[in-house]
Amino acid sequence: MAGVRGDSYATRDGSPLPDRSDPGFERDVRRMFSHIARRYEWFDHVASLGSDLLWRPRALWDLDRFRPPGPVERVLDLGCGTGELTRLTARRFPSATVVGLDFTAAMLAVARRRADSGATRVAYARGTAMRLPFADGVFDLVTNAFLVRNLVDLEAALREMHRVLRPGGVLLILEITEPVAPAFGALFHAYFDHVVPWLGAAIDSAGPYRYLPESLRRLPPRPAFRAALEHAGFARAELRTQSGGIVTAFLAEAGGATEPRPPTLRRPAAAAGP
Ligand SMILES: C[S@@+](CC[C@H](N)C(=O)[O-])C[C@H]1O[C@@H](n2cnc3c(N)ncnc32)[C@H](O)[C@@H]1O
Repeated sequence: MAGVRGDSYATRDGSPLPDRSDPGFERDVRRMFSHIARRYEWFDHVASLGSDLLWRPRALWDLDRFRPPGPVERVLDLGCGTGELTRLTARRFPSATVVGLDFTAAMLAVARRRADSGATRVAYARGTAMRLPFADGVFDLVTNAFLVRNLVDLEAALREMHRVLRPGGVLLILEITEPVAPAFGALFHAYFDHVVPWLGAAIDSAGPYRYLPESLRRLPPRPAFRAALEHAGFARAELRTQSGGIVTAFLAEAGGATEPRPPTLRRPAAAAGP
């Protein structure tokens, strides 16, 4: 492999391969998602053998059982990408306003094209999960799917998610995780670490699909993740695994004193980065 660091083009075919130890990591994550935006959903369905179509609805079902009863008026879907979870969430909570936020313009462009006609309750905005352009305590729910592996500082991002939730509001994080049973884990890694990158390189490009297994290795194990949620201020946290632990829904309720929340969301700030 060519390995030109300081730029995202680190693979022989010139496709972006973000490197967490590189200062340009976030920029390269953005370039990588720009590069795959048009094929993202399609490749996800193929590589997950269709399972991702079940993971998101099941996580919303888990969220419903976890959250305290009460109306849901404002939802933020972070790292919304092409809007798969955003659209499901808007359907699940028909009286809520749903904001999808992402820092990759090309992913948002696909999301906007896919928006249900007349879906005025869904708004897409460009911005980074590391500095959310919203006032404190304005959301009833914050969701994200397959985002947190890509974050430069997980703990800081969890604090941001907590900040924008009202006390008693709920966070749902859906992410790829290590399978629970070691024997299944060996099988999973044979597929995820070797077959998926090979498939990606064969039908698309090498970098993004080499990055995929690398990004999973950087995620804290489930107990440490749960501790990080509590450390960020969440009062109650639960985990729900799916597909033998290949994905986990992390659910957490925001703690803090009950204060009246501001009446409106602050407008999203200008675009994040190039
Ligand atoms: C794997 S995709 C997941 C998309 C979508 N949530 C889904 O369920 O398919 C990850 C998304 O997170 C976005 N992302 C990564 N880091 C981000 C950050 N720091 N702030 C905002 N978006 C980010 C990427 O641009 C990409 O669209």
